[in-house]
Amino acid sequence: MGNLYGVIGCPIKHSMSPDIHNDAFKEKHLNGYYHAFHVEPERLKESVQALKILGVKGFNVTIPHKISIIPYLDELDETAKIAGAVNTVINVEGRLIGHNTDGNGYVRSLTKILQKPIQEQKILIIGAGGAARGIYFTLAHQGCSEIDLCNRTVSKAEKLINECPFGHTSKALSLEQAEQQLENYDVIIHTTAVGMHPNVEQKPLSVKHAKRTAVVSDIVYNPIKTSLLQEAEEQGLTIHNGVGMFVHQAALAFTLWTGIEPSIERMTAIVYDKLGGTSC
Ligand code: ATR
Repeated sequence: MGNLYGVIGCPIKHSMSPDIHNDAFKEKHLNGYYHAFHVEPERLKESVQALKILGVKGFNVTIPHKISIIPYLDELDETAKIAGAVNTVINVEGRLIGHNTDGNGYVRSLTKILQKPIQEQKILIIGAGGAARGIYFTLAHQGCSEIDLCNRTVSKAEKLINECPFGHTSKALSLEQAEQQLENYDVIIHTTAVGMHPNVEQKPLSVKHAKRTAVVSDIVYNPIKTSLLQEAEEQGLTIHNGVGMFVHQAALAFTLWTGIEPSIERMTAIVYDKLGGTSC
């Protein structure tokens, strides 16, 4: 009998996770199957209990359940505690353990395209929500000491800086201040949903003042090239889109469940195929 895995979210029907995980099970000759479960917020508790009772070996957790699932789990590992959110659950002999592979997945993907170690880069994070929190805390935990945050609501960036358990040298800026001071940063990371389909014309700020060697990264992957990345590319800057984060968080989850590393290249190719674009 095979092992069942899955993802819970709402909405979930456009999730690409079943495509990449089921291909990885096939490629690695593992008897596993991954299914997307639509779970409404008010049915979360009983859905998690059902997955546990039915012996589902592991599952991903996506919007809007990443924080609200925490009370229904038996334990959190360090990554979930750092992020204050869960995107991956492992069922260990009937105990549900929450992990978070988003932050490490993002950093793994970003570091592949950097010329210098991430710890030597001056970083600007745009946004102060849940995604910013995961990335900011992971970078700080990995020894990045020069990270500033900018956000539409500056007080939220200040709050996140104060909550970071790994150093407090970061500055909080408004989007306008950050736009004017962009030449200070080696890596600019956009963590909000601004520019995501269908609002593809929007961008959080202009990168026209960025330094020529800067890397501009956007966690959005639909569209593959957001308005922000288009502007960065026109300026000759290096760009990094959200496909890498999506694929690497999935690969880390797959390894947590099976102990086996899937092919990043295959996962990436499947995602680009589904999104109808080419890699950048
Ligand atoms: P997520 O978990 O996806 O990060 P979130 O926690 O709701 O979502 O955070 C949303 C982030 O997007 C916030 O930084 C928010 O800015 P505010 O703190 O000022 O609300 C940012 N955001 C959302 N819409 C925005 C917009 N139109 N322009 C700029 N920033 C926006």
